[in-house]
Amino acid sequence: MGCEHAPPRVPGVEARTDDVQVTWPDGHAGRFPYFWLRENCPCQQCTHPEAWERIVDFMALPLTVKPDSVDADRAGLHLTWPSHDAPCDGTHYSWEWLDDHRLERHARLARKRRIRGWTGSMVDKDSLAVSHDAMMARDDDLERLLRHVDSTGVGFVVGVPTDRLAVTEIAQRIAFVEESHFGRHFDVLSKVDPENLAYTPNALQPHNDLPSRQHLPGVQLLHCRRNDVAGGDSVFVDGIAVACRLREQNPAAFDLLSSLSVMFRSVAADWEIANRAPIIAVDEDGDVVGTRVHPALLGPVDIEPDEQPAFYRAHRELLSIALEPEMQFSFRFEEGDCVIFDNARILHARTAFDSTTGYRHLQGCYVGRDDLRSRLMVLRRRGADYRIR
Ligand code: OGA
Ligand code: ZN
Ligand code: ZN
Repeated sequence: MGCEHAPPRVPGVEARTDDVQVTWPDGHAGRFPYFWLRENCPCQQCTHPEAWERIVDFMALPLTVKPDSVDADRAGLHLTWPSHDAPCDGTHYSWEWLDDHRLERHARLARKRRIRGWTGSMVDKDSLAVSHDAMMARDDDLERLLRHVDSTGVGFVVGVPTDRLAVTEIAQRIAFVEESHFGRHFDVLSKVDPENLAYTPNALQPHNDLPSRQHLPGVQLLHCRRNDVAGGDSVFVDGIAVACRLREQNPAAFDLLSSLSVMFRSVAADWEIANRAPIIAVDEDGDVVGTRVHPALLGPVDIEPDEQPAFYRAHRELLSIALEPEMQFSFRFEEGDCVIFDNARILHARTAFDSTTGYRHLQGCYVGRDDLRSRLMVLRRRGADYRIR
């Protein structure tokens, strides 16, 4: 007779001069410095039991703090500390929590979120779509929608009512509306005196919205209330896949676009917003985390004349990749569709339309990226206690 759950093996533990060394069942050894173990103590004297924030007077803790005792058993690692620095009921960490917080580089990289970039044939509207009534009413369906936005960068809500402003209702179901100089929501339609190219029938090149703002809006929602014009088809491209392809085919161009800050500017009667930033955003490991592409709002490019030819060649090569049909996912907005996409990751574009043939009306707004992800994490928890170490 086998037992269902094999008892967890107790990792090897060695209390050393400055840290505890843990040898995990996979053979890797990892170190946890004493100050780190002391500072993160979850006991009620050190962490507020409800607010779940640190309350230990960490300035009173010597950086050279050492435990009075270090013990290990199946439940985890247990430490006690001298009480004259700051009170503590005793520190207990489960192996699972310590495993999730290993400090070595390979462990940090292993738990890093990896984005799998896509090309056009890997994406289709049906598999990314959730019905409006379902996502508004049921958390499971909301979670499914948010998973699409989180992993693919794009999700669709279909069957959205077209008789009212519904896009902000969807945004609020996810989290909070993130306002901008276009207000709480915006109407995308061809109009007289447009303060934005989107409000014309012109084609829009692949872009990230509002790159002139220091903080790029996180997630964009666009709800189609009416669309019976000729043209105006939508195109989405994974900006991370585009940037990674540029790095493969021309590393020097990639380095230029990810290191050189350039100006983006947006000016209208009621605003004037400018910001310098690189076109490709990379993190500390050199991984691409987003783009800031907007050919219509770029510039004037404020870099040395001698740097300009290489910059413009690199920029053109990046755009050429985004314009390759193989990279693009195209669809036509149907009335009642709402697309939700990560504005740092996904480039969106549209073909020109003929406004004499009908009417095209989208309504859009933004939701913070952190808030969308937070909502997804809370939904995934399914009520489990987050206050466990
Ligand atoms: C926008 C935009 C696309 C469209 O409003 O930011 O890019 O299809 N609109 O009209
Ligand atoms: Zn404590
Ligand atoms: Zn746009």
